[in-house]
Amino acid sequence: MSTTTPTTVAAVPFMKFETTEADIEAVMRVLKSGMLRAATKCAELETRLGEMSQANHAMTCANGTCALQLAYEPLFNPGDEVLVPAWSYIATASMLVARGCKPIFVDALATTGQIDVADAAKRITAKTKGIAATHMYGCPVDIDAVGSLAAKHGLKVVYDAAQAHLSTYKNKGIGQFGDAVTYSFYATKNLGTGEGGMVTCNDAALAKKIQLLRSHGETEKYLHEQVGYNYRMNDLTGAIGCSRLDRLPADTAARRAAAARYDALLATIPGIEPLAITAGAVSAYHLYTVRMDPAALSCSRDQLCKDLGALGVPTAIHYPKTLPQQPAFKNHIPGQAPWPVAERFTQTVFCLPMHSFLTDAHFATLESALRSVATRYAR
Ligand SMILES: Cc1ncc(COP(=O)(O)O)c(C=O)c1O
Repeated sequence: MSTTTPTTVAAVPFMKFETTEADIEAVMRVLKSGMLRAATKCAELETRLGEMSQANHAMTCANGTCALQLAYEPLFNPGDEVLVPAWSYIATASMLVARGCKPIFVDALATTGQIDVADAAKRITAKTKGIAATHMYGCPVDIDAVGSLAAKHGLKVVYDAAQAHLSTYKNKGIGQFGDAVTYSFYATKNLGTGEGGMVTCNDAALAKKIQLLRSHGETEKYLHEQVGYNYRMNDLTGAIGCSRLDRLPADTAARRAAAARYDALLATIPGIEPLAITAGAVSAYHLYTVRMDPAALSCSRDQLCKDLGALGVPTAIHYPKTLPQQPAFKNHIPGQAPWPVAERFTQTVFCLPMHSFLTDAHFATLESALRSVATRYAR
């Protein structure tokens, strides 16, 4: 006997990743070799992703948070003020606090959601020593503007590219810019290994410092020249990373093609528009992020997302709070407000499904759901 139970199933997966036979074989080869610590596969991942992002030096590490710590520690000192986006994931700012720095939160650009370099300029003081800018959603920030501001004030620059593997700026890999660039290989990232991370840079002396910090300052067996950490990756993770790196260029191209389809679709739907891409940048589209226009639609963002979910389109909110709104930073923000753009984003921005497996059928569901909610709530 068959029963039909009404269910609300998400017809379009929000994210999708595959584990291929090649991934499994790559891990099995490492397991069988018995060499589980960081060895040839971590080194291969460093060489290949370093080259693909056009950086001279690449250091794998345990995760993207460790990558930020490894980049910040040699570049910033306790007491330094460092400009950081109010609109980012917590680690970009919290690892500054871990270093003893004071995070100076900078508002976002209403168009792109990226750090507003003009607002950053207004927040510079004699104590400002750096900028830590996130390539949000996979889209590079206005790197020329960040570079000019940094050059003018002698600031160090770290780019948080946890979401931005293989993105480019003015036809160059993002590894060419700033003092250091950090990555995350968390399971849901464009290059996901479960946990994992990497720092790239173009200065050999800085690379050496990062390598030392990553492994207890060890220069030869049991000789520790300085205090450091164990933030190393391992070769099982490195093997997954290398295997998935084989597919990353094609996956990224598929994400970009899906983004172009969304852009064309949303151009015909009033009230829901994509965040713009920085001039000269090509995004890696970790997330496809849109903003609802409260002047065009009469519902809340949360109602809109609920209705989309009921129509088979899951959404996610990146992020429900600005960083200055996080309790973790309550002692750091007095005197720093306002961040009006970032605060508006907490009420208007949401992300639509984005991955390399979106099909025509998915886009048919996306189109009918988006048109339906936009019509339902049109003012
Ligand atoms: C912008 C950004 N920075 C840093 C991180 C931290 O990376 P991980 O989770 O690998 O520590 C993430 C991960 O979500 C992120 O999105």
